Amino acid sequence: MSFLPDKNTDYASMAYWNERYGTEESFEWCKSYAGFKDLIRKEVQPTDRILMLGCGNSSLSEDMYRDGFHKITNVDYSTVVVENMKNRSAEARSMQWLVMDIKDLKFESGSFDVVLEKATLDALLVGERDPWRLSENSRILMDEILIQVSNVLSSNGRFISITFAQPHFRKRLYARQHYGWNIGTETFGDGFHFFFYVMTKGERLSEQDAQLQSTWSNHNLESQSTVARLQEDNNDDSYLNSIEM
Ligand SMILES: C[S@@+](CC[C@H](N)C(=O)[O-])C[C@H]1O[C@@H](n2cnc3c(N)ncnc32)[C@H](O)[C@@H]1O
Repeated sequence: MSFLPDKNTDYASMAYWNERYGTEESFEWCKSYAGFKDLIRKEVQPTDRILMLGCGNSSLSEDMYRDGFHKITNVDYSTVVVENMKNRSAEARSMQWLVMDIKDLKFESGSFDVVLEKATLDALLVGERDPWRLSENSRILMDEILIQVSNVLSSNGRFISITFAQPHFRKRLYARQHYGWNIGTETFGDGFHFFFYVMTKGERLSEQDAQLQSTWSNHNLESQSTVARLQEDNNDDSYLNSIEM
């Protein structure tokens, strides 16, 4: 059965996800845990309290549980997937699964040591025509979510974002002083590369990343994008459209 939506923007619709999860048992966006577990082990301690944003029906949380990370809270706005996941395995039964919109996180400040997302923010950006020039609505939406992510993180907590989005598109969204974190970037995957961003709270943005702030509102973007295009000549710019089954 095909779960390809009629149009790409369906990936930003709760109705699409609920219908898809009515029949789909498991699907892994980007890569499965085995593909990036060394990066996770470097950044996450077994005792860390972990929040998984937009868990979907991925095996990531169960795989991490089996690997010794036991304090995982999973949220997704799809009631269907949260019900399905609660009892999917012994590991799943040992974790928390909550229906929650990541635009409105219902946790106290500092509740988590790690917040993790894999392809969830990508799904919220699918309506964008030009990844070089995100609409004001999307930029504000991302900012609202990231302010909450920063708020639920503990003082030296880490936000890990695993995504299709290349640094010249994604770092502009993450590089803002008011989140109170710095940005580390890793890649993984063979052939097609995925990105593993680690934002560590309590650290300052590098000088170079701090400069990206002036491009957040699309001002001064021309010079940045020209440099990035030259640097990334061989990369595919259409990552948003590459989200498919
Ligand atoms: C592309 S899938 C990624 C699923 C999973 N993280 C993975 O790696 O396979 C996006 C997921 O985010 C969820 N989602 C989208 N917008 C959301 C929101 N505003 N709040 C909570 N979950 C959301 C969808 O229901 C879907 O499960």
